Amino acid sequence: MRVLKKVLAATAATIAALALLFVVAVLLRWDRSYDAPYPQIHASSDPAVIERGRYLAYGPAHCVACHTNDAEQDLVKAGATPPLAGGYKFDLPVGHFRTPNLTPDVATGIGNLKDAELARVLRYGVLPNGRATLPFMELHDLSDEDLTAIVSFLRSQPAVRRDIPKQHFNFLGKAVMAFAIKPAGPTSAPAKTSPAEAPTVERGAYLANNVANCAGCHSQRSPMDGHYTSARFSGGMTFDLDHDTKHVLVTPNLTPSKYGRITPWSEEQFVGRFGAGAGLEGTHMPWKQFQRISETDARAIYRYLRTLPSSDFNPGPSLQAKKKEG
Ligand code: HEC
Ligand code: HEC
Repeated sequence: MRVLKKVLAATAATIAALALLFVVAVLLRWDRSYDAPYPQIHASSDPAVIERGRYLAYGPAHCVACHTNDAEQDLVKAGATPPLAGGYKFDLPVGHFRTPNLTPDVATGIGNLKDAELARVLRYGVLPNGRATLPFMELHDLSDEDLTAIVSFLRSQPAVRRDIPKQHFNFLGKAVMAFAIKPAGPTSAPAKTSPAEAPTVERGAYLANNVANCAGCHSQRSPMDGHYTSARFSGGMTFDLDHDTKHVLVTPNLTPSKYGRITPWSEEQFVGRFGAGAGLEGTHMPWKQFQRISETDARAIYRYLRTLPSSDFNPGPSLQAKKKEG
């Protein structure tokens, strides 16, 4: 008996020591600083470049869908284009997070940040203070041309003073930051220019993957660290609805399979659908922003989606009864 007690005590002490080590490791590692190169991006005051950035921010790249506050969200859905002063809150199992103010205000916005610091956030996923960004933005493979356009547009906005509360990570969130989230960078050497605006598969691939982040919602992903648990574009991500607790929205499969939503659609139908805006109430898809996508770019996206590997995953209809927890 005495031996057993000793063994048990030793085991308990080991577990306690390991748990303590884990907690210490999390606390030391969760907000550690990463090194990443500073892209050679310089804001331009050329009106054509700024206009290009505005098209991306309020259109395909939909920055405005996140970088506005709760009060502005309904206006944005109705077509307003307020400055990107931030404040929208995401409540997640790992904490609650607000989008930063991206207007040139010195005290609360990006006024004190260098062009290269802003460009580094988008290309390498490293914030100005060195922490890895949460995986909300997949803009790592933007061309230099578009990155320049976006930074130039951000600089051209009126300064809005809006203090955004600090991000709150709970312990689980800190553990995820410490061990699962690493800054994501470009998948290949960044291109200087974007594919020309023409209805080509190449242009569509660039828009769908590098700008509009279609796969970010049209795939299944971990609610903890956002990693992909299914084939990209195969659908199945579930969103709660604010106005209706009995239903959820589920993203459709966009691949050319028998379960693909757009498989029976003609190119004209697809272009028409993108021009029509939101259908389902409370949808998270930034339809209003995508309505601003040019017809040529919508054709390019359709042609690209047609070339995706087919996935036989069936996410079901977009509006579904919510499954009981557990
Ligand atoms: C799906 C929501 C979403 C979209 C779309 C989005 N962002 Fe963000 N952005 C965030 C969140 C959330 C953060 C905070 C990340 C963190 O704290 O790790 C952030 C942080 C940033 C930062 C860091 C600012 C700072 O001061 O630390 C920049 C710069 C930025 N976003 C620019 C953009 C631009 C430009 C676009 C459009 C091209 C964009 N974002 C689109 C959610 C989004
Ligand atoms: C922020 C999340 C999000 C992003 C980004 C997003 N979608 Fe969606 N999408 C949804 C949701 C949720 C639905 C289901 C509800 C609805 O139809 O609005 C949906 C529905 C759709 C539908 C079906 C519409 C219908 O009438 O049946 C198509 C087609 C579609 N998305 C294509 C795309 C394409 C192409 C992109 C990129 C250019 C994209 N989505 C980006 C969330 C998103």
